[in-house]
Amino acid sequence: PLVDTKKMFEMAYKNGYAVGAFNVNNMEITQGIVKAVAETKSPLILQISRGARSYASMSYLKAIIDVAVAENPEIPIAMHLDHGDTFETCKQCVDDGFTSVMIDGSHHPFEENIRITKEVVDYAHAHGVVVEAELGQLGGIEEDVVGISEEDVMNHLTNPDQAVEFVEKTGVDSLAVAIGTSHGAYKFKTAPKLAFEVVEQISEKLPGFPLVMHGSSSVLKEFKDLINKYGGAMPDAMGVPEDAITNASKMAVCKVNIDTDLRMALTAKIREVFSTKPEEFDPRKYLGPGREAIYEMVLHKLKVLGCTGKA
Ligand code: G3H
Ligand code: 13P
Ligand code: NA
Ligand code: ZN
Repeated sequence: PLVDTKKMFEMAYKNGYAVGAFNVNNMEITQGIVKAVAETKSPLILQISRGARSYASMSYLKAIIDVAVAENPEIPIAMHLDHGDTFETCKQCVDDGFTSVMIDGSHHPFEENIRITKEVVDYAHAHGVVVEAELGQLGGIEEDVVGISEEDVMNHLTNPDQAVEFVEKTGVDSLAVAIGTSHGAYKFKTAPKLAFEVVEQISEKLPGFPLVMHGSSSVLKEFKDLINKYGGAMPDAMGVPEDAITNASKMAVCKVNIDTDLRMALTAKIREVFSTKPEEFDPRKYLGPGREAIYEMVLHKLKVLGCTGKA
């Protein structure tokens, strides 16, 4: 069924795993993801960015997700707004039937982040929708928001005391924290160390409270190499090592956001088809294998997060 994330996070917290939050932009991506969770009986968060809304239109995305939910009644699926920028965007998504929205006020000063988050929480909760907020700043690029530089990432980690004050003052349901991850394919030049102590300190002060990790793609070498082999150009791409993601998932992190790794799986497969079968021009002959590559990547990620079979 279409659900919010409350129960999902409760179970994830208690049992030491995280639920995968995968970005969807079209039918093939959604089908690939849903096939993997259906087959393994895993919980799922499908997330939609503002960019996805303007690319595919909300009515198409909602219809695709409605079908996924109807065809998989035994799988809990949440429909989540990724990186909502304003109260108006979040309100629109609550009205459109999302079960969860993110208000990302992380680039605002602390008090303003509290104010805007509280405004969204009041509206969303009145309509039975849960809210994720963000405190601290990630690196990398998401839509039109440029994150801080790699060198600066460690200076903008979430402050645990502020996190407690933020959660208490806003009544938010989950909090995205900055612990050294970063958006996109070009996260780091050298292998990063995540600040697990930030997660530990927050969970000591707020036991049971679910944290969220953005920028959690690993930019797997195999896929980077395939893209480069078949005519792409992503030589310096680097992500968060998967053992660090697994570690965080065992802690208070209950939602892990992954988009880049799915993009790369799809792109690598389409490039491979284009270059090994240049005579093909039927879109089903490359979107089909691309969809299968998404499915395999999600199967793998569910294991990394420990949430396989937890539906
Ligand atoms: O954090 C951003 C997500 O990867 C979504 O990306 O805004 O290009 O759709 P997008
Ligand atoms: P990646 O770019 O690491 O996949 O992060 C996605 C994300 O955080 C979406 O909100
Ligand atoms: Na967890
Ligand atoms: Zn994000």
